Amino acid sequence: MDCTTEPQNITIDVHLSGETPANVQAELREGLTSTPRTLPTKYLYDDRGSELFEAICKLPEYYQTRTERHLLNQCADQIICLTEAEELVELGSGAATKTRVLLDAMARVEQLRFYVPFDVSEGIVRRVAQELVKEYEGLHVHGVVGDFLAHLEHIPDGGRRLVVILGGTIGNLDSQAALNFVSSIHTEMASGDFFLLGVQLETSIKRIEAAYNDSAGITAAFNKNILHVMQEMLGASLDPDAFEHVALYNTTAHRIEMRLRSKEAQHVQIPGLDLSFHLEKGEDILTEISTKYDHPRAETLLKESGFDMIKWYTDSEELIGLALARKP
Ligand SMILES: C[S@@+](CC[C@H](N)C(=O)[O-])C[C@H]1O[C@@H](n2cnc3c(N)ncnc32)[C@H](O)[C@@H]1O
Repeated sequence: MDCTTEPQNITIDVHLSGETPANVQAELREGLTSTPRTLPTKYLYDDRGSELFEAICKLPEYYQTRTERHLLNQCADQIICLTEAEELVELGSGAATKTRVLLDAMARVEQLRFYVPFDVSEGIVRRVAQELVKEYEGLHVHGVVGDFLAHLEHIPDGGRRLVVILGGTIGNLDSQAALNFVSSIHTEMASGDFFLLGVQLETSIKRIEAAYNDSAGITAAFNKNILHVMQEMLGASLDPDAFEHVALYNTTAHRIEMRLRSKEAQHVQIPGLDLSFHLEKGEDILTEISTKYDHPRAETLLKESGFDMIKWYTDSEELIGLALARKP
């Protein structure tokens, strides 16, 4: 682990190594040789990918971010009052824009001491840490650069905890992976700690698909960014211009599936994995799922992971749900 203590109340721990260790190679090889071929979603988020995701959050079609922010504005004071949190831990924190609503609520009751942004994207963790110590006097930011599916035990301890996941990040996992993930979050928490889980809710297919097929083409650029990451990381011969961005709703699985569709038959070589394969014209690589929940499915996930759900907040159109849960 690389641990940097910086001035101004910032600590950053880095748990990802720069090279491609055996387990990363095995994960990528397994995905690219399965049916459909798959690339893990976390590789969408290098520094450029994180910037593109921030741009997506501002798009008119992407209703999720503004709705979640609005909902947080309505319930943040109650959440902070109920949880008495002193440490806010955010898994998949990204640009932490909506997090400010919770930090403001903590500051209002003089409970704001410790914020832990946890993300796979190092650049954004460092940027957010710098921004927040300037915005909130006396705040200590302890960033964790890591994979939340592998490094949860590195969450630092800073008092009564509220762990949050926002931005529909939980939806990027299929149901078994989500259950494993939330169960491991539960394991890391102390009895009496709280967990706030943001979920995107099922709504009209037209509205959901429009959010992932914006007219400015930002989501397409975000999706294709994973090919740049594979080029840089592994020397892969994956030309973004040879793929088309596709995002369709799968009603049976309740999820958007974001794919890269090969525009032509092509031979792909990935020296860093010692792998080559043929792609047919029209063949897909699955890069992201975004599962849409409803209230019962969110509650079941929390219950099966060991949490008691104590509050359910939603907006007037029921587009976003925020489930507040407690470890008994
Ligand atoms: C959908 S974005 C949400 C960002 C932010 N929370 C929001 O609400 O706008 C998902 C975030 O999770 C991060 N992420 C994805 N997979 C991850 C993983 N396995 N471990 C840690 N962070 C991950 C991404 O870098 C990205 O910042």
